[in-house]
Amino acid sequence: MEEVIYLDHASTTPTDPEVVAAMLPWYTEGFGNPSTVYSLGLTAAHAVQQARESIAVTMGAEPDEIYFTSGGTESDNWAVLGTAEAHQKRGRHLITSSIEHHAVLESMEFLEKRGYEVTRIPVDGGGLVDPEDVRRAIRPDTTLVSIMHANNEIGTIEPIAEIGRATREAGVLFHVDAVQTAGKLPLDVNELGVDMLSMSAHKFYGPKGVGLMYLRKRTRITPLFHGGGQEKGRRAGTHNVPGIVGMAKALELAGGQMADDAVREAGLRDRLWEGLEAEIDAIYLNGDSAHRLPNNLNVRLDGIEGESMILMLDMEGICVSSGSACTTGSLEPSHVLLALGIPAEHAHGSLRVTLGRSTTADHIDKFIRVFPPIVARLREMSPIWCANCVCKQRT
Ligand SMILES: Cc1ncc(COP(=O)(O)O)c(C=O)c1O
Repeated sequence: MEEVIYLDHASTTPTDPEVVAAMLPWYTEGFGNPSTVYSLGLTAAHAVQQARESIAVTMGAEPDEIYFTSGGTESDNWAVLGTAEAHQKRGRHLITSSIEHHAVLESMEFLEKRGYEVTRIPVDGGGLVDPEDVRRAIRPDTTLVSIMHANNEIGTIEPIAEIGRATREAGVLFHVDAVQTAGKLPLDVNELGVDMLSMSAHKFYGPKGVGLMYLRKRTRITPLFHGGGQEKGRRAGTHNVPGIVGMAKALELAGGQMADDAVREAGLRDRLWEGLEAEIDAIYLNGDSAHRLPNNLNVRLDGIEGESMILMLDMEGICVSSGSACTTGSLEPSHVLLALGIPAEHAHGSLRVTLGRSTTADHIDKFIRVFPPIVARLREMSPIWCANCVCKQRT
């Protein structure tokens, strides 16, 4: 079978073999429930505690500020819903950006239906939030600001430390979805000035279905799950011991190589962009080119559809994503691209390519070789590509 060229690392990453090796014993001989008091359970509890300590160190946190969850979606839901409820006597106004992940946006919508008010800060044409807009949006009844660290579609990195200063001065809680930056950029919760931060292990070569929330000491929050007294009674449910151990290992490995990964992946990403720009007409970069994750390229092509490009690249053994989400059978343009001011028809023609540790120069060169003929073929068939469109034929 021909090698699959995987260029969708923002979607998920392969679990590192060293991570798998660290996890395996906790499925077999170390299977105990960490909430039990005999040695088998205590050994598992010790592994969970060690993971908590090693993870806390990577972000300048205290171990008891780390809460294990099932992933980014749960952490985001908990941050938004849990603090909104706990602080509702003080106010029912929340602030977020227009380009957040659905886990934050839909939690906000859920609250709006229950009488909360939400301000969505717009972004500029590159996808960046202006911290002054956040400062101006804060009101006496604001309880939470939730802004993502880097966007999952266009990879733009938001000015979190500056927003953190604004929320701190106003005495408002600040949550950051760092799902796309954990393991890629150095994170320090004090430098960023955050009260809560979400992470998900499968985005940094760890296992799926496990994540965490950093929760600053003395932050009031209502639990999302009710049941056992795990995680100091704030997050009920038996610990996913292999997952937690694997996440700690993945973060440790990332710490040692993120600087090198970033330089290598940014170099390959730039080679890809230059190659595509030289070969293809009417191709544009989505998102700010400077404040951007090193592994992310998001492009827009006139006259064609993201989904058709994905399917044709798949036939060449290349995995990428588009900016569109296919929900309930209807193809909706990405809310992120629309927020940049890109018209819906152009947002549909976007493609997200995200590189990773396994990406090589050969992969990039193959992409540059196979993609231009795909674009040419799709444009030949396209009723909206200018060369084929009715207005052109009339002239
Ligand atoms: C920015 C962001 N937040 C949250 C999530 C959800 O994380 P999980 O897959 O762990 O539920 C994702 C996943 O794509 C993401 O990219």
